[in-house]
Amino acid sequence: MLKVDNLKVTVEGKDILRGVNLNVGEKEFHVIMGPNGSGKSTLALTIAGHPRYTVVDGGIFFNGEDITEIPANERVKKGIFLAFQHPEEVEGVKIMEFLQTILNKVKGMDLADAYDRITERLKEVWFREDILKRFINVGFSGGERKRFEILQALLMEPKLLILDEPDSGVDIDSLSVISMKIEELYRRGTSILLITHYGRILQHLDPSILKVHIMKDGEIVMSGSGELVSEIERRGFQKIFEECGCDE
Ligand SMILES: Nc1ncnc2c1ncn2[C@@H]1O[C@H](COP(=O)(O)OP(=O)(O)OP(=O)(O)O)[C@@H](O)[C@H]1O
Ligand SMILES: [Mg+2]
Repeated sequence: MLKVDNLKVTVEGKDILRGVNLNVGEKEFHVIMGPNGSGKSTLALTIAGHPRYTVVDGGIFFNGEDITEIPANERVKKGIFLAFQHPEEVEGVKIMEFLQTILNKVKGMDLADAYDRITERLKEVWFREDILKRFINVGFSGGERKRFEILQALLMEPKLLILDEPDSGVDIDSLSVISMKIEELYRRGTSILLITHYGRILQHLDPSILKVHIMKDGEIVMSGSGELVSEIERRGFQKIFEECGCDE
């Protein structure tokens, strides 16, 4: 479904991704781990079509179609959704209007149906309806921002959900609702590309279904099954890199 082919990306003239190859099939669950600054968010944002990132070589294909140059909103319509590592505040845009608009534009839902869907689903990620009058992320706590990203994903039901550290800065209870909802989307047929530093969010998943990749200096240097997550947590990246000769 998603094919990232020898992707090289620069940001403000600086080489960040140096030839990333990644294939995500239908109903697959992929995990990307890697040290800070290794290029995980850059990869996520480039797949989602963020204009700040310049593809200088290689490409991104979705269901066989080259999407490397198409704008972010077109990618969303094709079924790619990114939950951000650092969701931004958008002053002046009310959550209800925003969610209704995306459901209308992307899913073709009329506003009344969208309203019903939104009020039904927001409870699943512990929001009360008064949140709908607020501006996007303005004054939200870190955990609320992450739950709001998950709410959007639940409403969009994308074909490919990219999650950039949905578990960072959230408390234990929020983490459990976030991981439950990611698993629910996965079981209903969404392919997942999850960026994380910790295995905890994967606790209810069978490690054998996971495809885990490690990024280092803008490349995927190792791939394996879910066992790799516990190995990373136990031993840290440096030891693993030394042993695989990935440091050279
Ligand atoms: N706008 C930018 N200008 C300059 N450098 C940038 C910019 N955006 C990203 N970079 C650099 O690209 C590299 C990769 O950053 P990226 O955010 O993709 O890392 P990451 O793997 O997601 O790290 P983390 O685990 O800390 O989230 C870093 O060295 C970062 O400083
Ligand atoms: Mg990041």
